[in-house]
Amino acid sequence: MSSPRNWSELIHRAVQRRQELIADASTDSFRLFHGYGEGCPGLVIEKFGDLIVIDHKFELEAEAESLVKAIDKVIESKVIITKGHQSLRTKLKKRFIVRKGKLEEANISCQERGIPYDIRPNTPHNLGLYFDTRDSRAWLRKNSADCRVLNLFAFTGSLGLSSILGGAKEVVHLDRSAELLSRMQSNYELNGKKWDGRSFLKGDIYKHLPRAIKAGKKFDGIILDPPPKVYSSPHASNAPRGQDFGQLVHLCSQLLSEQGWLMCFFHRFDLSRDQFENEVLKNTHLPLLVSERLSSGIDFPEDNPEHKLRVSIFTRASSQKNGQPTEV
Ligand SMILES: C[S@@+](CC[C@H](N)C(=O)[O-])C[C@H]1O[C@@H](n2cnc3c(N)ncnc32)[C@H](O)[C@@H]1O
Repeated sequence: MSSPRNWSELIHRAVQRRQELIADASTDSFRLFHGYGEGCPGLVIEKFGDLIVIDHKFELEAEAESLVKAIDKVIESKVIITKGHQSLRTKLKKRFIVRKGKLEEANISCQERGIPYDIRPNTPHNLGLYFDTRDSRAWLRKNSADCRVLNLFAFTGSLGLSSILGGAKEVVHLDRSAELLSRMQSNYELNGKKWDGRSFLKGDIYKHLPRAIKAGKKFDGIILDPPPKVYSSPHASNAPRGQDFGQLVHLCSQLLSEQGWLMCFFHRFDLSRDQFENEVLKNTHLPLLVSERLSSGIDFPEDNPEHKLRVSIFTRASSQKNGQPTEV
């Protein structure tokens, strides 16, 4: 049997690394432990306000108590839960265990850089906010003034909401899952923002984008965040491959206005950032250049930057200073 992990030490080190986030009174939510880069692949701990979620891909029962104790010693919380990955092949009820407090006591919103977000403590997957895109949200708040923005693969709408908070004049969110539309609305409500019938659309991207192109729609900013494996769709011209930037960029390019930006999220580790960027550039008829590169923050430590989230922003060569891309 392998020797037991020293959770006190691992969690202590993780907390030291995140001092900047912990000291920030406007942020109560971040990844507390990123096992892949911090000595325990398959285990991730996230803090959503006063709720701590331990996601594990391996059998954790024998270690759960010492892990919860180690967390409790260094970070305040009301509720701690463990969530076993579906690959463990036990019933969800057995994989989802409240280890401290009562689930009803957990807050149903959390805060990042002063902005509240709706979370659902009892969802089997992500509670409503991905922390690796924190800096992308900050970029959107800075670069969306007066823009019409299209947020594709919107999930709970946190990226599009960032554009709204940054002064966008219109944001259209698109996701194929109907139940997410009310989550997007909750996020707007929490932030005192109004929406209308066009703000949140339920639909398959491969059906919706050709329609928008036909209708002559244009956007000044497009957020393109496909999951690592895009599902097949009866509306796609070809079967989607991986994140399918080939087909998606071809469609998005036809919707981008003259000075528009395209923000792409690269999630797969089988391609480098350069390879992803080339895939984007190969599939557009526009003279696009990479103008900025973003990544995940200090709560996602990795020795190899290619193992972090990679986000690249593309703009038209003509809209960049002296026709040159900004230094990246
Ligand atoms: C990884 S999440 C995107 C995260 C989101 N951008 C954020 O930052 O919160 C992927 C989302 O894509 C949606 N989705 C998957 N396939 C889709 C399709 N063909 N058309 C529209 N939405 C799709 C899923 O319902 C899911 O909400």
